Amino acid sequence: MWASLRVLGLESTCDETAAAVVEADSMGRGKILSNAVLSQIAEHAAYGGVVPEIAARAHVEALDPLIRKALAEADCAIEDIDAIAAAGGPGLIGGVMVGLTMGKAIALAAGKPFVAVNHLEAHALTPRLTDNIDFPYLLLLVSGGHSQLVAVNGVGDYQRLGSTVDDAVGEAFDKAAKLLGLPYPGGPRVEQAALGGDPARFDFPRPMTGRRNPDFSFSGLKTAVRQEAERIAPLTNTDVADLCASFQAAAVDVLVDRCRAALRLLADAPKPPTALVAAGGVAANGAIRRALGRLCAEAGLKLALPPPGLCSDNGAMIAWAGLERFRLGLSDGMDFAARPRWPLDARQDPRWHGKA
Ligand code: KG4
Ligand code: ZN
Repeated sequence: MWASLRVLGLESTCDETAAAVVEADSMGRGKILSNAVLSQIAEHAAYGGVVPEIAARAHVEALDPLIRKALAEADCAIEDIDAIAAAGGPGLIGGVMVGLTMGKAIALAAGKPFVAVNHLEAHALTPRLTDNIDFPYLLLLVSGGHSQLVAVNGVGDYQRLGSTVDDAVGEAFDKAAKLLGLPYPGGPRVEQAALGGDPARFDFPRPMTGRRNPDFSFSGLKTAVRQEAERIAPLTNTDVADLCASFQAAAVDVLVDRCRAALRLLADAPKPPTALVAAGGVAANGAIRRALGRLCAEAGLKLALPPPGLCSDNGAMIAWAGLERFRLGLSDGMDFAARPRWPLDARQDPRWHGKA
């Protein structure tokens, strides 16, 4: 039995500013009381990607009203909150500093404990909030900056099994979209265009498939899309749809094959995973969600997929990860410094425990 807890979480590592209040009841089950997100897509769209300086300034402007909104929607005063959590990295340093400083300032002023959260850990733990999943599980983390397969054994206990050797899968979606003339952010646009396309028209490569280690590579796939697009230019709407569908089919095959490789590696673990969990913005993709569903049915695994709004960056995931750490007695000091890089399994290194 746990004491029930409420945590305010702040997210500002990339192009979403977010604040949320999450509660865990006495049985440890999570509930989102509010989840306020402001996307900066409009600010960055003209540049075809996230501009760090614009992002940092936009976080400064957006955070304060978003925190007020999150508290009001949760019907909470700051006195009703047990701890303040903020993403401490990895991400764009200017944005991380904005959220982290705000989190520390609120904690200091209100006399509340402060928890610095690893953004990747927050994605990794989200299915415990949405689906009440038990450890251990296999995590497929697929976002704009990361493609990783991770054995999640407990809070702070992560073993990275494989990661990308070049582009992240979300980056490949974004780059493919850009070269096909689709607006930023590309992932949802590619998925939309692929709905009307023929996935078998172009036989794109499936890099790394068949390898024992569950690593990823996506830059060759993106290059193949560019070469094919150049070969058949000028592109009709049908060409774009077929290129998107064929690209997405290749990406799906790669992700499923790499999950299989990770499951093979974990089959001999003392406690093999009983669930596959997908997180990160790309996990919102319907074709990927369906393919993972088929894989889990075949492998006899439970599948946990957070709803699309909790796959992409949000404050609830930061609040929840903060809550999970806080109820284990973990918190951080005011000297915690923003970390542009913060690998998930660094938590296993005793030097990283507790303090920056
Ligand atoms: O986790 P996230 O919101 O931000 C970080 O990168 O941390 O992920 C954003 C990424 C972008 O690359 C975006 O294009 C991709 O997730 N994405 C998608 C979809 N929705 C978002 N990729 C494919 N299909 C989607 N439906
Ligand atoms: Zn993310």
